[in-house]
Parts: sequence; C-alpha cells; structure tokens
Amino acid sequence: MGSDFPKSHILGIDISPVQPGTVKPKNVDFTIGDVTNLPLPYADGSFDYVHIRLLFLALKAEFWPVLIKELVRIVRPGGYLEMMEAENICMEGGISTGVPNLGTIMVAGLKARGVDIHVAQKLKGYLSAQPDLTDIHQKTETLSMAPHPSDVDGMKLAKMMNDDGAAAMGGLKGAFLAKGVCKEEDWDYVLSENLKEMRRRGHKVYWTRCWGRKRSSEE
Ligand SMILES: C[S@@+](CC[C@H](N)C(=O)[O-])C[C@H]1O[C@@H](n2cnc3c(N)ncnc32)[C@H](O)[C@@H]1O
Repeated sequence: MGSDFPKSHILGIDISPVQPGTVKPKNVDFTIGDVTNLPLPYADGSFDYVHIRLLFLALKAEFWPVLIKELVRIVRPGGYLEMMEAENICMEGGISTGVPNLGTIMVAGLKARGVDIHVAQKLKGYLSAQPDLTDIHQKTETLSMAPHPSDVDGMKLAKMMNDDGAAAMGGLKGAFLAKGVCKEEDWDYVLSENLKEMRRRGHKVYWTRCWGRKRSSEE
C-alpha cells in the first residue's frame, strides 16, 4: 500500500513487534499499540483512511462497537473506515480418520473467552449503527480449500490458506497439547489429518470487507 500510494504516510499498529523494521517503503511506519487501550493516541480526524483486519480471534464480542466508534473518531470527515474479517477458518465436526478436530476445540475455547467468531457477518450492522458513517458497503469473497483444479487462482489461494492454517494451528500446538488433545509425537499427524479433511470436504472460508465514509460537516 505504501508503494501504491507514495504520497501518503501510512502508519501500522499491532500489539506484537511483528512488523518489518527496515525493509519497508519510506512512507510507512509501524508502531506497537493495543487497540483495546482506549482512547487511541490519535487526535479526532487524524487519518484519511483507517483499515483494520483479522482481529476476529483477538477481540471480545462486546468490544467491537466500542472500537468501531473510536475508529470513526480518528477518521477525518469525508475519509473512510474499512474493516476485513474472516469466518469459518477452521472446520468443526467429526474427522473421518478419528483424530481430534482442532477446529471444534479451538472454537469452543474462543467462545469461552467471549470471542464472536461470526463477527464478520456483523460488520455492516456495526458500521450502519454509527451516525457519522454513510455510504456503507459490504463484500464477501468465498474461498474454497478444494477448488476445481482448473481454477488456477483458486488453487493458489487454497494452498496459501492451507499453509496459513498449518502455521496458525502449529503456533497453537503448545496450547492444544496442554489441553491433552493428543500426544506430542502424534501432533504432526493430527494437524495434517485436520488439514486434509478440510480439503476433502471442500471447506469454505468467507472473507468479508465492509467500509463506510465519515460524513463531512455539510452532510
Ligand atoms: C491474524 S493477525 C492479522 C495481522 C494483520 N492485521 C494482517 O491482516 O495481516 C492478528 C494480529 O492482531 C494483533 N493483535 C491482537 N490483539 C491486538 C490488540 N489488542 N491490539 C493490536 N493488535 C492486536 C496480533 O498481534 C496479530 O498480529
């Protein structure tokens, strides 16, 4: 984005120090920040455009409207807020080879923490409830874990989702083992069976983008 819009100054925030420090366009800066620590340290109307994505596993259900109100505050009148969240990233239900279903276990854990795993479906309603926003739009792209082999782009995306899922679930290995999901020596098999089953069933992931414009003072 920094390269596509060289005249803009882009600021990215994340709670973890995961952002690139040096290999980035000159007009991009990253900072460490917690979006649950409100108010955000930015004046009203500081940004032409605010984009927030893929926090659906991190935030509690009741916090979304609070955060959205705060994001609207820091967008300038006439500027845009855009959000993108995913749904159905893991598969629930039985697995034909009988290994534990990591998706079912993860969803139960998220629900117990008060996370709304269906928040992607609610973004439009949340944005529409903001009196300062108008021109609200929503678009959902459905990506399959097992597209038709003739769908070249779909196949590439499915591989990326598979690799992403393997990395994300792999990152949770310690938590799954601590719950007694399986023995450590069985972990690689359990993970690969979960991913295989998602491909076998043609599991679908929904990616929803929702955006709105902040009313200008004349509107
Ligand atoms: C699934 S990743 C998405 C990363 C990035 N937004 C993207 O779309 O590529 C979720 C990110 O949210 C960050 N995160 C979680 N809780 C947060 C919080 N309270 N404030 C800021 N960032 C947070 C995590 O550190 C993680 O990098």
